[in-house]
Amino acid sequence: MGIQISPSVLNADLSRLTHEVERIAAVADWVHLDVMDNHFVPNLTFGLPVVEDLLRHIDTPADCHLMVDDPGRWAPGYAEAGAGSVTFHVEATRSPVRVAKDIRAAGSRVGVALKPGTSLDALADVIRHVDMVLVMTVEPGFGGQSFMENMLPKVRQARRLADASDSDIWVQVDGGIGPGTIEQAAAAGADVFVAGSAVFRADDPAVMVERLRADAENAARP
Ligand code: DX5
Ligand code: ZN
Repeated sequence: MGIQISPSVLNADLSRLTHEVERIAAVADWVHLDVMDNHFVPNLTFGLPVVEDLLRHIDTPADCHLMVDDPGRWAPGYAEAGAGSVTFHVEATRSPVRVAKDIRAAGSRVGVALKPGTSLDALADVIRHVDMVLVMTVEPGFGGQSFMENMLPKVRQARRLADASDSDIWVQVDGGIGPGTIEQAAAAGADVFVAGSAVFRADDPAVMVERLRADAENAARP
C-alpha cells in the first residue's frame, strides 16, 4: 500500500456523522473514529452503538481507534460491526496478544497504539499479530493539539520494526497532522495519516485530504 489518509471526525459535527463522512468519502481511504471512555483518556465520545449505526449508512472503511480500558471486552464488537480496522492501546491491557487475535478472528485488521510515553519495546510479543502500529503524536484525548516533533525518532523506529517483520505492517500517525507536519511524518516512514482538525476545519475537507495525500507522497519519495 502507498500513502493512506484517515480523516478523524473527532472535531467534526458529531450530531451529523453520516453527513460529515460523506464530505470526505470520495477521497479518503478510511474514516477514523475515536472512541473514548473517560477512563483510559479524560474525554468521552461515542461507543459501539453509534459506530454500528454509522456503519449502516457509509461505505468508507472505518478505522476505529479505541482509547478505552479493557479493550479485550470491547474491541471485537467493532470488528463484528464491520469496521475495517480496529486499533487498541497496548497500555490498556495485560493481554495484547489475546486482544489482537480476537480482533482478527472477528474479521478486521488489527492495530496497536502507543501513547507518546510508551516505548516500542512494549510491542515485542504482539507485533507479529498486528497489521498496523499507531504512533501517537499527541497525548490521546483531544483533537486540535500540536504535533510532537520529538515523536519522529519513534516513527522511524516503528518503520524499521515494520520492515523487519514478515508481513506488511502499516505505520500510522495520529495527532497534529496537517500541512507542514505530514511531510515530516511521511519522511520518517509513516504511511497512514490521521488528520482531524486540519481536514474538518478546512473550507473544503475533500480538497484538504487530497492536498495532504500529495504532500505525504512528495515527502515519502526517496
Ligand atoms: C486524539 C485522537 C485523534 C484526533 C486527531 O486523541 O486520537 O485522532 O482526532 O485530531 P487532530 O488531527 O486535530 O490532532
Ligand atoms: Zn485517533
